[in-house]
Amino acid sequence: MANWEELRGRCMACRKCALAETRTNVVFGAGPRDAEVMFIGEGPGENEDLQGEPFVGKGGQLLDEMLSLIDLDRTRNFYITNIVKCRPPHNRDPLNTEQDACIGYLEEQIDLLKPKIIVCLGRIAAARLIKPDFKITREHGQWFRLEDGVWRMAIYHPAALLRDPDKRPDTFADLRALRAKIREVCTRTY
Ligand code: URA
Ligand code: SF4
Repeated sequence: MANWEELRGRCMACRKCALAETRTNVVFGAGPRDAEVMFIGEGPGENEDLQGEPFVGKGGQLLDEMLSLIDLDRTRNFYITNIVKCRPPHNRDPLNTEQDACIGYLEEQIDLLKPKIIVCLGRIAAARLIKPDFKITREHGQWFRLEDGVWRMAIYHPAALLRDPDKRPDTFADLRALRAKIREVCTRTY
């Protein structure tokens, strides 16, 4: 199996889909490589493309603030990345063909990290990682356990929380459920 540096090197040089033509930086992921909790968004936005780091724009700042309330910090106890590693132009949703081209990197990241918990940020990640017909409005905050034994949940995407602050109380409740699950199944996170 690959190691992190070998995988990162392959990903940084990747030209498997057309997003390679328009990206500034490949956004591989951030956080400790032994974290028990993994957050997964859909794809880099403008700030992420410019800085090469996931979730560093307004949405990312909101996410970091909300996660700090349950003692999660990307420098310390979670890993964060995206379904596609290069920015879709004008922040459109990543196409299925682009997701198919890129998903292998995420699968290798999951194999290396071996997270206990995966939190999907928004519908696109949940559709890919939980079930294709995932309904974010109805199913955010619910736990799913697939054959690999990893606990999976989706919360609203931070961009949706910026657009619609009325969704924030639901997300706080989901994060309290996440904190409880971390206490139940993780040994090194808190
Ligand atoms: N939105 C995402 O889905 N991912 C990022 O990294 C930034 C914004
Ligand atoms: Fe490669 Fe993924 Fe970037 Fe496409 S989005 S070029 S598959 S790293």
